[in-house]
Amino acid sequence: MTPRVLVASNRGPVTFTDVDGQLEAQRGSGGLVTALAPAVQETGGLWVAAAMSPEDRAKASEDPNGRMEVKIEDAVYRLRLLSFDDDVYDRFYNSISNRLLWFLHHYLWDLPRSPVLGVGSRHAWDAYRSVNVRFAGALAEEAEDAESSVLVQDYHLSLVPSALRELSPRTRTAYFHHVPFAAADYLRLLPLEMREQLITGLLGADLVGFHTERWAENFLGACRLLDDATVMYRRRAVRWQGRLVRVGVYPIAIDAPQLRAAASEPEVRRKRTELERWRGDRKLLLRVDRTDLSKNIIRGFQSYERFLRRFPQWRRKVVFLALLHPSRSDVPEYQVYLEECLQEAQRVNETYGDADWTPVTTRMNQDFDDVLAAYQTYDALMVNPVFDGMNLVAKEGPTLNRKHGVLILSRTAGAYAELGRAAIGVDPVDLAGMAEAIELALTMPEEERAARAATLRRTAASRSPAQWARRQLRDLERMTGS
Ligand code: G6P
Repeated sequence: MTPRVLVASNRGPVTFTDVDGQLEAQRGSGGLVTALAPAVQETGGLWVAAAMSPEDRAKASEDPNGRMEVKIEDAVYRLRLLSFDDDVYDRFYNSISNRLLWFLHHYLWDLPRSPVLGVGSRHAWDAYRSVNVRFAGALAEEAEDAESSVLVQDYHLSLVPSALRELSPRTRTAYFHHVPFAAADYLRLLPLEMREQLITGLLGADLVGFHTERWAENFLGACRLLDDATVMYRRRAVRWQGRLVRVGVYPIAIDAPQLRAAASEPEVRRKRTELERWRGDRKLLLRVDRTDLSKNIIRGFQSYERFLRRFPQWRRKVVFLALLHPSRSDVPEYQVYLEECLQEAQRVNETYGDADWTPVTTRMNQDFDDVLAAYQTYDALMVNPVFDGMNLVAKEGPTLNRKHGVLILSRTAGAYAELGRAAIGVDPVDLAGMAEAIELALTMPEEERAARAATLRRTAASRSPAQWARRQLRDLERMTGS
């Protein structure tokens, strides 16, 4: 019998908006929905998520347990939305998930000054734990018996696997970590109690998954911080409290056919023509990012400035288009960062621009059609995060690009493991190296560009999101003997 697949993630597959007093459902845009919704639907499973907006909460309140069934374009989503007090949710999401854990796993702390953890942080951690326990409770209720496979998603829910094991010891659980996993020494900065809860929280799962070997190894290294864990690096497993926890590597994929179909719409063609008219005979250097602090947008602009200084023959012959999507505006560091990114672009323009040429153009909140159009027509794509779990822009761009565009990619991005051999690798704090990489990208002989572009395209499309989910489910079922 095929087990029912239950998924838990903070952001659910469907969100609600108020349209003239009616709550209307929209499918979330993230790749996770594409990857996991089919497995949930095919097995008659259910998705547990947080009600993130007042509209989500209004919809959730229609059922005592927040259960619902929503139909969007012939697909049925069975959901359970969990509502929390504003204050508890704010501490869970903003204070712990977005500030403490995101910064931790992306190595974003300015260690001489931050973080500073006081009583407020302990209080926030309690809220984080209570939200995780609520998720585990809902999953235990839904799992009913051993015939469910639970897929817990990401750092917001790090404590769910252990909490679920306490409530429902026979339920098989896989946890997937979508961001980098911090190395043991960095984790040691967390107070002992939090650190141990974080690691043992994940060890409640049967299978813990990562996008790359590096993050998996960091997790194994973190497990060595526990006195009573036996870490087997070569087997990629941890023996803990009499159980074997497997650690797996499952690089997430994009849905290349679906992306190509979306990009072939007339509206995207129209936008591409507009963009090509705008850039004229100038080369187009592109970046597409959420404005997360880990994306390294400021150094991206600074390296471009160096490139213009060092290679003056390129002035007026290139434009840098940055399509930015504001992220997590409730976190003060994010507000400041976005401001700084825009100021940096402005500064480059004041230094090198003139009446006929604006070196950098930033566009905010663009439609996905604009992104698709830009992907098709860049000459070079800059993906230079400080650290990134995977980075799907690095896969989406080359899949759609029609100009043998060159990918400039941080060696610290998860995507580098798969795409690095056909990209120009950069080290994200090395401005001189990034400036040279831009020059190399724009002067690369056509033949080499074509060969690299073909490899990138092939590699990016070689797996599907559904395979990513299936491999985890298969491994989970094998190891728990279903
Ligand atoms: C990025 C990360 C994901 C994470 C998501 C949360 O996309 O790669 O791992 O789950 O951010 O974003 P949110 O907007 O929900 O805070």
